[in-house]
Amino acid sequence: MSLDKLLDEVRARPLPRHVALIMDGNGRWAKRKGLARAEGHRQGALAAERLIRFLGKERLVPYITLFAFSTENWSRPREEIEFLFRLLEGFIREKLRELAEAGVRLRLLGDPRPLPARLRAAIEEAVAATVGNDALHLTVALNFGGRWAILEGVRRALSQGISPDKLEEESFRRLLPSGELPEPDLIIRTGGHLRLSNFFLWEAAYAELYFTPILWPDFDERAFLEAIRDFQGRTRNFGRVVP
Ligand code: IPE
Ligand code: IPE
Ligand code: MG
Repeated sequence: MSLDKLLDEVRARPLPRHVALIMDGNGRWAKRKGLARAEGHRQGALAAERLIRFLGKERLVPYITLFAFSTENWSRPREEIEFLFRLLEGFIREKLRELAEAGVRLRLLGDPRPLPARLRAAIEEAVAATVGNDALHLTVALNFGGRWAILEGVRRALSQGISPDKLEEESFRRLLPSGELPEPDLIIRTGGHLRLSNFFLWEAAYAELYFTPILWPDFDERAFLEAIRDFQGRTRNFGRVVP
């Protein structure tokens, strides 16, 4: 089926509001081609760029979140971590104008404090420069962990002196670092592993999960639309009996 036909089909049915992606498989992509892991990350960044551009243009989904670096990824070799951070900084600096013109609003999800100062500065600038946009809410989860996020919510609740009997699911949800975002309707993981790897935990309670063996650098517009089409074929019960 042509991409345009697939796009028409997907548009004809209810779309998710928030899609979150676990971008996994860069290293294996490189290994299969006999290349260094860094080359996999470089191609992975291009895949992310392609998807952002596509969604900015087509306006299919208003919120996307890309899991770029987990709290556990600090245990990778130092050179790989530095390479990832440089890649991200370069991407943000080079693409900022284009993203801003396309109506993309950038947010960071994760603890920025341990990140290199230059990367933090690039992110802060981009976040500030795009704050008025709303064609596509792009969140980059960087130094993010689902457990960190829940603890962060608890810390905020404690520091606001909220009493235990006043702590409720909806108000607590808004205290989470992701509290401004709608809950993810669909979480896509590329690279074939069937796990969340400490991505959204609280937020994933009623997300539909979609796993594909496609390695992240090969994940293209068609693969994204196929994930959406799969999502559109599911019944979301939210615990109810659905006739
Ligand atoms: C990218 O894929 C995910 C990041 C943490 C940047 P990986 O680097 O985990 O690739 P694989 O899983 O080793 O193939
Ligand atoms: C998940 O991928 C984290 C990101 C995509 C940022 P990992 O490659 O770190 O996950 P594990 O280690 O295989 O669970
Ligand atoms: Mg991996």
